Amino acid sequence: MDERKELKVTTTNLPKHIDGFIRYLSHPNEKANEDLAISYFRYLFQEKFTRQEDASRSDGYVPGHFVLELKGKISDWYAGLIQGLAYKKTLDFAVVVVAAEGFLAIWRVDDIPDEIQEAILNKKSAPSKIGKELALSFKHLKQKILKKAIWHDEQLHGLFLSDKSLVIEKIKSFEKRLNACKKVREKITINNFTKILKIMAEYFDKTQPIKTVGAFYAMIYSWNEHSILMLSNRNPTTATLDGEPINYLIPDKRIKFKEFVENYYVSLSENENMDDFFAQYDKALDTVDKNFRIQNGIFFTDLDLSKFAMWLVKQNIPDLGKNYIVIDPACGSGNLVTNWRSPLQLRHKVVSEIEPELLYAVEKRMKGDTWHNGKFTVVPKVEEAKGLNFLDKSAQQYIEIINNALTEKGLKFNKPIAFLCNPPYRGDDDRTAEKPNYEVHTSIIDVISEEAKAERYCCFLAQMKLICDHAAKSNLPDNSVLLLFTKSGWLTNRLTFDSLRRAIFKSFDFVDGILVNGKEFFDIKGKFPIAFTIWRYKEKLDNSSENKNPILLKDVTWMTKKQLKNFTWDNEETLNKACKSLLANPLSISVSLDKKVTPIRDWISQKQKMFQRSRRKDERGNNKVGGLPAKDKRLDNKCAYGESNGLSIGFMDDLTPCRIKESTDNIPWFRLNAQFMDCNRTRCFSGRPDQKGYCAIDYESAVKVFLWYSISRTFASIGYPLWADALLLWAPPILKNFENIAIKYAFAIGLAENECVETIFPANNPIKNAPQIYCANPMAPTNPDSFWSKIMAAHFSKSSESLPDQLVKAVYLFYDEWNKKFKVNPEIPISYQRQYFVDKGILKPTAGIIQIKDFAKEMNDQTLLELYANLQKLLKETKQSFYNMLIDTKAINYFGNSKETQLIDHDIPKKHLKYDVFEKRLILASMIVNSLSKSKGFGRTKFAKVFYIADMLCNQPKQIT
Ligand SMILES: C[S@@+](CC[C@H](N)C(=O)[O-])C[C@H]1O[C@@H](n2cnc3c(N)ncnc32)[C@H](O)[C@@H]1O
Repeated sequence: MDERKELKVTTTNLPKHIDGFIRYLSHPNEKANEDLAISYFRYLFQEKFTRQEDASRSDGYVPGHFVLELKGKISDWYAGLIQGLAYKKTLDFAVVVVAAEGFLAIWRVDDIPDEIQEAILNKKSAPSKIGKELALSFKHLKQKILKKAIWHDEQLHGLFLSDKSLVIEKIKSFEKRLNACKKVREKITINNFTKILKIMAEYFDKTQPIKTVGAFYAMIYSWNEHSILMLSNRNPTTATLDGEPINYLIPDKRIKFKEFVENYYVSLSENENMDDFFAQYDKALDTVDKNFRIQNGIFFTDLDLSKFAMWLVKQNIPDLGKNYIVIDPACGSGNLVTNWRSPLQLRHKVVSEIEPELLYAVEKRMKGDTWHNGKFTVVPKVEEAKGLNFLDKSAQQYIEIINNALTEKGLKFNKPIAFLCNPPYRGDDDRTAEKPNYEVHTSIIDVISEEAKAERYCCFLAQMKLICDHAAKSNLPDNSVLLLFTKSGWLTNRLTFDSLRRAIFKSFDFVDGILVNGKEFFDIKGKFPIAFTIWRYKEKLDNSSENKNPILLKDVTWMTKKQLKNFTWDNEETLNKACKSLLANPLSISVSLDKKVTPIRDWISQKQKMFQRSRRKDERGNNKVGGLPAKDKRLDNKCAYGESNGLSIGFMDDLTPCRIKESTDNIPWFRLNAQFMDCNRTRCFSGRPDQKGYCAIDYESAVKVFLWYSISRTFASIGYPLWADALLLWAPPILKNFENIAIKYAFAIGLAENECVETIFPANNPIKNAPQIYCANPMAPTNPDSFWSKIMAAHFSKSSESLPDQLVKAVYLFYDEWNKKFKVNPEIPISYQRQYFVDKGILKPTAGIIQIKDFAKEMNDQTLLELYANLQKLLKETKQSFYNMLIDTKAINYFGNSKETQLIDHDIPKKHLKYDVFEKRLILASMIVNSLSKSKGFGRTKFAKVFYIADMLCNQPKQIT
């Protein structure tokens, strides 16, 4: 029977498109039938179905879904499948459909072994040729791959002749399966892009994590629902997405990377734009390498803060956008410079940066933004894949490089420079950062001195000054300005920054400035203030290195990110109102960071002592050097500590005893740090500390060092105004009336907070013949001869209820309980290890508070532990109360009471705003004592006695009144 005739009879009642497809499956070699197969798919997928030219010459293609290959003979299905797969180079689909005589099948691309896909990639010929060639090369996999089909039937031919309903069932099942294979790409959004970046990092060179970030930003403009990643068959580490090169791929993973890319697309919702991705470049970096930014001091400027700074500039230099060439020599990802749009409308911007990947991102960012396009110059050109180091060249060289870049673009250096810069925050002494691998140009070091060089931002400031000087000298337009985000250290009168300050003041006048909270806006570790200051090049250099305008900065360290986020940056009128009211807020006090005050270090008039030292000539190369216990690993350190045969004991920060040269014993020793930012490093030990050592030898010195110690400890626990962070602590301006009460606080805090211990350094340790030495606890109230008992205790009375008295009482109670342990034996041998015991430990009634606390914990002695907890509670309250007195403008007024620099409530923790009522009485007592003390023969003992009586009286308010 004529087969065609037969088929006609059996399929007449089928839907037309299915009927046509069946005809093809029965006689695929006939041209007319091929058209019927195409019509079948077109019927199903309508205009989405494309073919031939529109589909890279495949037989059919639905983007994001499938590619179709029609073959004649059933034996050609394998070549057809591979041909279909070869279209993956240029088409985007999830499955391949192959139809041949009596044969229909669907394969998922992901199920085909990588070796076949790899081989396809390496072929340059047309897909039809690749299909034929590779079907032969991979003949051995043919059956295995057939089994991998997610739908297939090889006996369709027979069916057509027998069972019509079965035919329809089969075709319907094919359609259902095919429809289910439609690829659904996942969205990459502003909110989830870091998660996707993390997955993406798997495909890139792990040794250079920043390359993944670079690739992401290279792709975002062209990564859409239909984008296809083109892998290179020449270089297995590269690919392109819409012509955009992507490098540093791991060769073995590139096929998987292609799948990955084609499973996602970048999606923006209505109010978002691509710049929102760039604005989060720091997050992207952190995702792939959490240390990269820290190591390189990269902290991008918050966008709203950048706009606020721009508003401030506009108030001072309204024509900046028009009349200056703005240069950001450390542009990072461009947060600072790209945001200076309205209202300043920066015209031409020149950006450079040491890290080429960031430079590349900035270029992408500005190119993608019509506002910037054509109005910026990236130096060096991105194609050079190089960064531009701002610090390793002379000012002249830098200007030449910029000038050449501008000339190449047909632009002229015909306007004054405005340096807009947020230089790196890294200091060379920063242990979390890698040391920069370049030398700072000598001209810069000449300006700032070796010491300040360690802070990279100081080098930046000096280089900007040198460039502005050079511009002025070489007839380029002068009147340069500096618009700078910096740490605030250089604005203080610390000696380290002296040369830099003088140099800047010589060339520039201060215009305006603010201080913000770095942690709030820069995602930095720790809380420190960041200054934004504006400087104008002097019209006439007057050779004076003093700044004429006082550098008063508005303290807006209280300002939050959230507050600025709510500003309407594009409405000048409301913006002006909002910014002005922010600066007029009573919290926005003006502060001067170069206060003329006596540093506390000078006030105590003591020479700093230390036992950390460099190794001597004869010690270099030796294994164990210094006076630490024989087992201590630090004996091998580059620097040495103490002396192996020392006769006194000093203490390391972790309380390890160390033999040191003979020193004054039985007195409290302190490690006292001079800067506010280091006040939590302050300690009180029963021996000399390894560095920054000071001591109390008598009452006068005790007053001073205990005041320094207690002020530091108090600031460390309660806080201090952020603007003071980079300053040195200064001598407390204590008026006579407050002297005694301040001393009481200082002594009480010293008694409760000290870390003095009683210990022994055993003989023959760390070297033979070293004698045993003993270190007493100078703060033991249980020893009538201790420094505490003899010099300090007289200030306190058991009957007084003032906080310092209560605190001292709590310490005494703690010791009373401790004393009970020694009714039978004079000492307790200790079996546990602690840093302060070199060998076996022994505790006596005169042990240090921390030793008793450790014992109580080890023994689970609840009574002692409760007494200790009470002591700690009182210590906290006492420090709070002392703090309130320190900052109270009517009491000690530590932060000054000039209207401009006084401390405002926002820095004061809300509770305990008033210090203890008893302290007020004590002040009265002090006044009585002071007036009595003017009489002759009024020595310290008498003074203490009268003070005690006055204090007693003050505790009975009725009698006083
Ligand atoms: C604190 S970030 C500021 C980035 C950008 N201006 C912003 O505000 O978002 C400092 C930038 O300085 C760059 N940098 C560090 N040392 C540099 C040098 N010697 N020359 C040029 N740029 C440098 C870092 O790569 C980093 O991007």
